[in-house]
Amino acid sequence: MSALPLENRDGVIWLDGELVPWREAKVHVLTHSLHYGSSVFEGERVYGGKIFKLKEHSERLLASAKIVGYEVPYTVEQIEAASRLVVEKNGVTTGYVRPIAWRGSEVIGVSAKGAKIHVAIAAFPWPAYYGEEARKNGIKLLTSKWRRPAPDSAPTASKCAGLYMICTLSRDAAEAAGFQDALMLDYRGQVAEATGANIFLVMDGKLHTPTPDCFLDGITRRTVMDLARKRGYEIIERAIFPEELHKAQEIFLTGTAVEVIPVGVIDELKFTVGPITQQLQADYTALTQNFA
Ligand SMILES: Cc1ncc(COP(=O)(O)O)c(C=O)c1O
Repeated sequence: MSALPLENRDGVIWLDGELVPWREAKVHVLTHSLHYGSSVFEGERVYGGKIFKLKEHSERLLASAKIVGYEVPYTVEQIEAASRLVVEKNGVTTGYVRPIAWRGSEVIGVSAKGAKIHVAIAAFPWPAYYGEEARKNGIKLLTSKWRRPAPDSAPTASKCAGLYMICTLSRDAAEAAGFQDALMLDYRGQVAEATGANIFLVMDGKLHTPTPDCFLDGITRRTVMDLARKRGYEIIERAIFPEELHKAQEIFLTGTAVEVIPVGVIDELKFTVGPITQQLQADYTALTQNFA
């Protein structure tokens, strides 16, 4: 990836229905969503020039906006077409797509009435999130002091920017302590997810994963569950408490950015990278290299 900051690159960004030069895709400082955290976004990966699970991501973008109280003024098909267009126009073959919708600068009060909805889609080259070492030996997670809020405290089913404030705090604290990511518990003290990925535990040959009732039911999570079912693994969605983590033989994360990544350490606990994680990691890689 280029060392240039994200605002200073060549290429084009799709902004409110048209392609604009990359450096001109700007917003005003009095943008409502900048002040009150209501933008919604997606993260998508490009493999071989094609966007993986584009329809699912585009649908989730519109659904996220609805949850936080506004309508994206484009259809899923229009968002899909615009996403493909920016990938093509920027010549991205291995990369990332970032669609985002937000409330504009028509009003400044907490009330959002009268704010116009904007949408932008950017695409840029992006290699694998973690290197070969992490893919082979796993990453280290540090349990965060921040907890995923209850679904009646925040719009937890939405991929809304405001919800990422505690993810950034957790992630930065983990990295400062020498870990790669944070494990976030939920408001009940149950294991929830990492800061941008879902979590799976392998226990006695079965997959256990937290019920996604206060965090994103990731598109990768669902894809990996399908792959696991095809391999004949039983999947148990349930409440998982941190006290049981030590009983897991393997632990891994799933997410668009991290793909399938083993976890080698959570706080003082150590885990080996085992055959089920390796199998699903290989199956996921194979799928992303060959999809319609
Ligand atoms: C907080 C959080 N949880 C889970 C996920 C995994 O979701 P997906 O697999 O749809 O990328 C993401 C990434 O979008 C995320 O940001």
